[in-house]
Amino acid sequence: KFAAGAVISAALFATPAFAACDPGEIVIKFSHVTAATGHPKGEAAEAIAKRINEEMNGTACMEVFPSSTLFDDDKVMEALLLGDVQIAAPSLSKFESFTKKYRVFDLPFLFPDMDAVNNFTQGEVGKDLLNAIDDKGYVGLGYIYNGLKHFSAKKPLMVPSDAEGMKFRVQTSDVAVAMIEAMGASAQKLAFKEVYGALQTGVVDGQENTWSNIYAEKFFEVQDGVTETNHQLLTYLAVTSKEWLDSLDPEVREQFLTIFNEEVVAANAQATAVNEDAKQKMIAAGGVVRTLTPEQRQEWVDVMKPVWDQFKDDIGQDVIDAAVAAGQ
Ligand code: LMR
Repeated sequence: KFAAGAVISAALFATPAFAACDPGEIVIKFSHVTAATGHPKGEAAEAIAKRINEEMNGTACMEVFPSSTLFDDDKVMEALLLGDVQIAAPSLSKFESFTKKYRVFDLPFLFPDMDAVNNFTQGEVGKDLLNAIDDKGYVGLGYIYNGLKHFSAKKPLMVPSDAEGMKFRVQTSDVAVAMIEAMGASAQKLAFKEVYGALQTGVVDGQENTWSNIYAEKFFEVQDGVTETNHQLLTYLAVTSKEWLDSLDPEVREQFLTIFNEEVVAANAQATAVNEDAKQKMIAAGGVVRTLTPEQRQEWVDVMKPVWDQFKDDIGQDVIDAAVAAGQ
């Protein structure tokens, strides 16, 4: 009853794969904001849904709503508590109103690569951080990886001072705002679905994101180019409500969590390759990549890294130290 074609047409026409659910099944809605395919989070969600719909058929079903078709990241957290949706996976940068601890993930030039991220999230401190929003009624199910971010802008950016006076779209993250202001630029928080239009109409001059988002959302079409800065992480917290998870029968809960975790591990192992593929597709589609010399890269580090100081009390020096150690 679960046809792959239904998922593909769901992605194309931005409608969910309703065909997955039969009467009497526990309906698990997974709402997110990115593309369904060619994207680490989109692919993870589809893979989880496919397995649930195959292996839990008759008991439970999952419907995935990609591309902000159901909820935006600023609404989805409330929707989880209201039971309007069961799974969400907002970027860790978007949890400011729930915890300041996730600011660690936004510190610029903290993680050199995704292996460092994996070391950190799978270590004791990273696992503990999954519980940072327990007191608000949520359960952190795990981290879904995307990758490191790059800057795009309406004119070439080789060193941070090239950004002076420009306005950049950021996620709802005060660390990102501080980082952009350190460059002599200004930041505007905007929902993901508004970014393309804001770049196109000049509401903002640039943005920062991963290859998969830059390609899937076509940001490169309305920008001069993308500077490969690898300056900051984009990764997600897969989250549900405690009330919903507790409402499941123990065997159902266990089967659901097992499938969920296995598919997240599998998707995370592919995240870097998915981003690399998106980068190559962007280049093939005419997108421009600007690479930095070691000296230019050092200028970005020197300008951005001092913002760590502003956030270290919120995060805790021990957490920062563990994240740094994960990259060494
Ligand atoms: C963004 O808003 O740029 C990202 O959080 C979108 C996403 O979910 O990758």
